[in-house]
Amino acid sequence: MGWINGKTKICGIFGYPVEHSFSPAMHNAAFKNLSLNRAYVPFPVRPENLAYAVEAMRTLGLAGVNVTVPHKQAVTEFLDELSPAARLSGAVNTIVNEGGVLTGHNTDGEGFIRALAESAGSEYIRGPVLIIGAGGAARAVAVALALSGTEEIIIANRTEARAAELSSLLEESTGCSVMAFKWEGQPAEGSPEHREWAAVLDRVKLLVQTTSLGMRPAVDTYPSIPYQLVHSGQVAVDLVYNPPSTCFMNKCREAGAVVYNGTGMLLYQGAIAFELWTGREAPVDIMRRALEDSISRRG
Ligand code: ATR
Repeated sequence: MGWINGKTKICGIFGYPVEHSFSPAMHNAAFKNLSLNRAYVPFPVRPENLAYAVEAMRTLGLAGVNVTVPHKQAVTEFLDELSPAARLSGAVNTIVNEGGVLTGHNTDGEGFIRALAESAGSEYIRGPVLIIGAGGAARAVAVALALSGTEEIIIANRTEARAAELSSLLEESTGCSVMAFKWEGQPAEGSPEHREWAAVLDRVKLLVQTTSLGMRPAVDTYPSIPYQLVHSGQVAVDLVYNPPSTCFMNKCREAGAVVYNGTGMLLYQGAIAFELWTGREAPVDIMRRALEDSISRRG
């Protein structure tokens, strides 16, 4: 930390727990690469201390922070401004401090969009898109897609009420057409559920797996959808990044789809936060290397 001096600006991450985060490695590598006099620090913030931590951004003059589990929703009430994506998703993962005015952004969804555009191509944003899951990650991605011009989103979730809630939010606030349905495991061939899946998988261009299924250590788990209906011409993205290749990805690849994991979203949510804090273009290749090194060291 030889570069820290009287003019160093501090960024960081509020979470609890926070020691698992890959963001310090990614952002400190970027600051170093561009010779910026900044440091990025993990802050373990207990839920009952969140309001004090946000106030400390003003009193200590922190330049900006990321916000992670379990604070992404709760933090919204302590901020001065919210970006459209943060307002609509009800979640913030990045705060920018401009002279004591704190603005909340959601770069998770925007990170997904940038990663998709870079890997598969921006034409996939148009949709139709199938989103598996309806939790916080699904909401961030769905909101960003709807705000970026996706014409149709289909949400499949185990708990129907959550899928319906996300669907109404999108339909009320964006021009996107949304369909929500309950997903209850592998549908029997010939059943009405199977026919519904067939109609959906026939027309979607992009599949996004947003549940925690497949995440280390549960690497053998995956959403039980009819993978035989997945086909070439489709792109399938798993938001899971550890392990780098999941059962969902393997099954979609075997069925003919082009597949990606969640590393790109993680990288670009960081790159966009970096750009919001510094006004500089993020050194994406440096950040990618730091991220991949950290993930592989974690194993
Ligand atoms: P995150 O912020 O990571 O999205 P979350 O908000 O807890 O986490 O959402 C988890 C998502 O994974 C939900 O869609 C959840 O389905 P429910 O809404 O029915 O709970 C889904 N999920 C988690 N474990 C699952 C499982 N074993 N089978 C099916 N869906 C699962």
